[in-house]
Amino acid sequence: MHCLGIETSCDETSAAVLKDGSTVLSNVVSSQIRDHAPYGGVVPEIAARNHLECIDRIIGQALHEAGIAATDLDLVAATRGPGLASSLLVGLSTAKGLACALGKPLQAVNHMEGHLLSPILSAGVSATDLFPNVSLIVSGGHTLLVHVENAGRHEVTGSTLDDAAGEAFDKIAKLLGLAYPGGPEIDSLARTGNPRAFDFPRALLQDPGHRFSFSGLKTSVRYFLEKQPADFAAAHRADLCASVQEAIVEVLVEKTLHLARQKKVRTVTVSGGVSCNSRLREVFAAKCAQQGLRLFLADPRWSTDNAAMIALTGTFQFRAGVRTPLSTDIDPNLKL
Ligand code: KG4
Ligand code: ZN
Repeated sequence: MHCLGIETSCDETSAAVLKDGSTVLSNVVSSQIRDHAPYGGVVPEIAARNHLECIDRIIGQALHEAGIAATDLDLVAATRGPGLASSLLVGLSTAKGLACALGKPLQAVNHMEGHLLSPILSAGVSATDLFPNVSLIVSGGHTLLVHVENAGRHEVTGSTLDDAAGEAFDKIAKLLGLAYPGGPEIDSLARTGNPRAFDFPRALLQDPGHRFSFSGLKTSVRYFLEKQPADFAAAHRADLCASVQEAIVEVLVEKTLHLARQKKVRTVTVSGGVSCNSRLREVFAAKCAQQGLRLFLADPRWSTDNAAMIALTGTFQFRAGVRTPLSTDIDPNLKL
């Protein structure tokens, strides 16, 4: 079975071909980071226009790299939400047109479910390895803790009250004068810094509801910098990055492992753009080994937005008997 996946929820236009729900034959990603960087964040109008301009070419390239024709597809999957309305419209409308023209089924996919299942895309990981588990999904727009029984059967047990973890990385990076997106910048600068140099808050660390809050951390960094001389951030960049990163990582890891103990599961997964963070991966690996938990980290290739995870979710849904009518609309606020 060949499934075409289409992902356009934010600023990446991506198309992928997945074979039999396990082999990624192609995954083409066109990133718009350079178009949005001057504005310090994603501009929805620019994103939608760029998707529209390149979606046909990206799909063509994905089919070409997979070595198949559109008529060989068995299924077309696209992100339905959450995301930017005008961006989602481009991907879902294109998928509907293709499904209709080819006479093949359409699968509208929840982007967060794509992230949730993305660890399966790594070599040697099967769905049976993965479930049941506690999953942390950390991206630019979401911070979710999920208790997963099986594909399609999950309960969100914690989310953020304000900023997402990736948003915190990006906003704090901006305060430190770093380029957008700030997460990878903080990650690389932190490598030479001291994570204990500055003591930033770990909000809601013991919260029984496993809720997150990161806007206080951002404010605390801002107030701290305001009290320092003008060149302080530049002079202490590595230590500031390492200390901020440590505060975010500690909260993410502690809450996830607490939920795993509470739900009595032996498996933990981590996915979403922030799961690329090297310190987060390192601390999760060490703590899970210490506590006898199996850890599945999404491969960095499948952590940031990609269409392979959408094709994977679409294939799972199809196999589970879920059918999406062509009248299905986008849902920018779709919940997991
Ligand atoms: O999942 P994703 O590609 O897009 C959304 O669905 O939001 O995540 C993007 C987010 C951005 O906030 C980016 O700064 C963050 O992931 N990110 C990182 C790293 N790589 C990407 N954050 C921390 N460390 C990284 N290495
Ligand atoms: Zn995402």
